[in-house]
Amino acid sequence: MKVNGIWYEREVEPRQLLVHFLRDELGLTGTKIGCDTSTCGACTVLLNGKSVKSCTVLTVQADGAEITTIEGLDAKELKESFKENFALQCGYCTPGMIVQAHYFLKEHPHPSEEEIREGIHGNICRCTGYQNIIKAIKQVAGGEGHVHG
Ligand code: FES
Ligand code: FES
Repeated sequence: MKVNGIWYEREVEPRQLLVHFLRDELGLTGTKIGCDTSTCGACTVLLNGKSVKSCTVLTVQADGAEITTIEGLDAKELKESFKENFALQCGYCTPGMIVQAHYFLKEHPHPSEEEIREGIHGNICRCTGYQNIIKAIKQVAGGEGHVHG
């Protein structure tokens, strides 16, 4: 498979999860494991351009696919906006959140606040209360920045 623009060929266990391949085999530890049960979104990556929770994908299912992780994601504006808007505290959810936000904004370039909330509803943050995350995404989308609690 191609990961962040580089082709990799490996023999893997049929039951290995993609998130483990990325972290353990390729050392791409920006992709986090929060739950391992497809609940938290910390493991979100792009698979052939679509956002997926990499703890729900077997490595073999990604055979021949193009994967983008937070390390290879071209999302400078979003990353800056998260920083400026204090949209992270512990930072554990942040890589998955940014990958998901990037995908969401590609699909919805001019989202309403409600649409942003809906767009990231599969990504859990236990620290921030989401307000600043929404603000950061809205800023990149060109929204006016006022967010209701
Ligand atoms: S680790 Fe994949 S969704 Fe939580
Ligand atoms: S910043 Fe800690 S989980 Fe989101």
